[in-house]
Amino acid sequence: MRDSWLRFWDRPHAIYANDRHRQVHYVRIADDILSVLPAHAGLRVLDFGCGDAREAARVAAWTERLFLYDAAPSVRTRLIETFRDTPKLTVLDDEGLSGMPDGSVDVITVSSVIQYIDRVDLPAILLVFRRLLADDGMLVIADVIPPEAGLIADVRALLSTGARHGFLLAAIGSLGAMLFSDYRRIRRQIGLSTYGDHEFGELLSTAGFAVDRLDRNFGFNPRRRTYVARPRLTSITAAAQVPEQGDHHSAATDQGRP
Ligand SMILES: C[S@@+](CC[C@H](N)C(=O)[O-])C[C@H]1O[C@@H](n2cnc3c(N)ncnc32)[C@H](O)[C@@H]1O
Repeated sequence: MRDSWLRFWDRPHAIYANDRHRQVHYVRIADDILSVLPAHAGLRVLDFGCGDAREAARVAAWTERLFLYDAAPSVRTRLIETFRDTPKLTVLDDEGLSGMPDGSVDVITVSSVIQYIDRVDLPAILLVFRRLLADDGMLVIADVIPPEAGLIADVRALLSTGARHGFLLAAIGSLGAMLFSDYRRIRRQIGLSTYGDHEFGELLSTAGFAVDRLDRNFGFNPRRRTYVARPRLTSITAAAQVPEQGDHHSAATDQGRP
């Protein structure tokens, strides 16, 4: 799964209806990230799976340092090119990420990434987040897709965003193009990882976090969810729990999911 989705993100794709859509999207994501950052000096922030992060300079300005990491090499190449001269911003590669010291980050944001990560890989990634976070740090995981989220709500979100921000015709056109796209094909064949509140809470708890769900999601899709997790300062082992049956979705097809 990881390789298929990563190859998708590593190639040119038409996820955004047009440049206007891409710009509106990244402005909103940057605003959402800024809305959760605590107001204290010396903030070190990691945006994991940041994509093109077009508004990252605005986020970096509020931090002591903003680290951008994306697993797709071509995305990282664009990030390095775009932000070469941006103060307080560092683009990390795989080695840079794994070499970061324990507790060296105050906030980690992960927006619209979890669905592309194989379910079996997620616990190890959450433990990496826990290792990197300071004890009083915060992990924000946004755009998590619940199993019951419907494709219709997703289409509605795209169309209403298009209408509100002046790219409705392009949005309609992009829905047609999507039917024949690689994205559609990979979703059909591989699927996306979806999580209910209970299961996601258990996964975060097992990784050593206490978790709350925000009442609004990052971005423009209100059916998806954003969780704020903070390191629990008790033993990870003692807190580990066995996930209940029935809240587990392998998402082998894309039925009902955006
Ligand atoms: C939908 S985009 C999200 C970009 C941005 N965070 C946003 O909210 O718009 C998903 C991004 O996650 C990246 N990604 C996918 N799997 C990843 C992984 N295992 N680790 C880090 N990044 C990953 C992709 O390369 C892609 O750039």
